[in-house]
Amino acid sequence: MHETLWNALLTWYAAHQRDLPWRQTRDPYAILISETMLQQTGVERVIPKYHAFLARFPSLRALTDAPAADVIRLWSGLGYNRRAVWLQRAARQALERWGGLPSRIEDLRSLPGIGLYTASAVACFAFGTQVAVNDTNVRRVLARVLLGGAATTDARLLALAESVLPPGRAYDWNQALMDLGATICTHDAPRCLICPLQSLCQAFALGQTRIDSALSAVGEGRPRWKEAPFAGSRRYYRGRIVEALRQLKHGDMHTLSSLGPLVKDGFSDAETLWLRGLLEELAADGLVRLDGDRTALP
Ligand code: ADE
Repeated sequence: MHETLWNALLTWYAAHQRDLPWRQTRDPYAILISETMLQQTGVERVIPKYHAFLARFPSLRALTDAPAADVIRLWSGLGYNRRAVWLQRAARQALERWGGLPSRIEDLRSLPGIGLYTASAVACFAFGTQVAVNDTNVRRVLARVLLGGAATTDARLLALAESVLPPGRAYDWNQALMDLGATICTHDAPRCLICPLQSLCQAFALGQTRIDSALSAVGEGRPRWKEAPFAGSRRYYRGRIVEALRQLKHGDMHTLSSLGPLVKDGFSDAETLWLRGLLEELAADGLVRLDGDRTALP
């Protein structure tokens, strides 16, 4: 049905695929780690972090047994610290409930921090499930190629992605769409002249490739945190707190007054309650330990 499209992309992928470490494993745990990291951070920055994480926590069991503070420390530079805590909780639950990571998407999705994207990625890349894996890049490529860049919803794009999945080739197909989106069908400057899908692309035919209306028109397809001003937000200061606590030696703790100036320039006593509020949020998320006026990683 879509043979021409399948052949064009899969042939290109066979010749041009990127050599990425998580493509050399089918270990569901390693794939969970890589896909979680890749949701928020680019491939180049993820590669060394992926190796470091797996060297320190090589298995679900190793992650489960580690102090949360060590996991949070290793997450430095990846953003979204809560994901580090969720990963450890997911590992614990998976071991308790199934003795390892489950293969069914619904089971994966029931674990902390694992949404449809990550569940589909683990199911497809580790267990060979024939399912679409729609990250931002994939959505953009499909919206351009199939819809000419017309505005649509994530749900419709997912249905479309399922309908063009080549039977038995979901792994390569999904990875190929990601590579095409990252290297050729980029957001700002698509390289249509060297694109293997050029002759099949609706957006190219319509001259619409530079207008990313499919995703921006409905405000979907981009992480929400990118849209809000970041510096000065609560999330920004939460990140600064975790970063300051990462610098502490094991066993040391900060007080509110020693921590405040590290988090905010010109910190004054009047801001102590504000700081405490942030710390209480972080403690509720499992990212810090609060002991009276003193705090550290958990
Ligand atoms: N982005 C998200 N998942 C990816 C993967 N498996 N390979 C490359 N980039 C990705």
